[in-house]
Amino acid sequence: MSNQTLSKPVTSKQTQPHEQLTWLVEKHRHHSFQKPIARYNQQAFDQIAPLVEQHQGALLLDSGCGTGDSTRQLAELYPQALVIGVDRSADRLSRQRANTPDNCLLIRADLIDFWRLANRANWPIDDHYLLYPNPEPKPGHLKRRFHGHPVFPTLTTLSRRLQARSNWWVYLAELQQALGQFGIESQISNISHQSAPPITLFEQKYRQSGHQLWRLDAQLADD
Ligand SMILES: C[S@@+](CC[C@H](N)C(=O)[O-])C[C@H]1O[C@@H](n2cnc3c(N)ncnc32)[C@H](O)[C@@H]1O
Repeated sequence: MSNQTLSKPVTSKQTQPHEQLTWLVEKHRHHSFQKPIARYNQQAFDQIAPLVEQHQGALLLDSGCGTGDSTRQLAELYPQALVIGVDRSADRLSRQRANTPDNCLLIRADLIDFWRLANRANWPIDDHYLLYPNPEPKPGHLKRRFHGHPVFPTLTTLSRRLQARSNWWVYLAELQQALGQFGIESQISNISHQSAPPITLFEQKYRQSGHQLWRLDAQLADD
């Protein structure tokens, strides 16, 4: 493999959860997020809402799915489930690397709106995957991380279970702390490179580059 394809581990002045995280999450916990829903997100949601309503089996959401490799893998692994992958990048979504199974839907939308729409519609999401979200490692960019964003309270009630993966431990430690402020327990564990094959393109790239990888698992609501 050439050096060009290797990726550097995340570097940041932050080696621990941000000192303002507790305050920021508390602020968002007590203020409802009022930003209007963008029209293109509403349209994307409306397009698939009837399929979700008709579906009888499990519902899985792959947020920030990029090229949708993980969405396709999950759809193949759980053929009775409906698996929805959402990403705001039309370019990434268009890079189809394999056939898309019938129970897999790939949608272009911004998660900040999509999560709120799914929550308002009471979608019964069983498993929510947040695989390698942009780490935004600069301390000044805390608000760009999903747990530092005003949408975060929505995420805590969106699904029964949440699985997040990252190559930056601090991101998951912060997510764990933020979930804890909502009374939600979670576990962080190492992802063994020897275990299952990589689930996403970024995971593949990080493994090839020798990065340490972690996952967080949380039960948000009773089964
Ligand atoms: C680091 S990439 C990971 C992609 C994929 N999960 C993977 O592991 O290969 C992060 C992805 O999140 C998407 N993303 C970031 N913020 C988003 C948002 N607010 N709404 C929708 N997608 C978003 C980006 O477009 C990008 O594809």
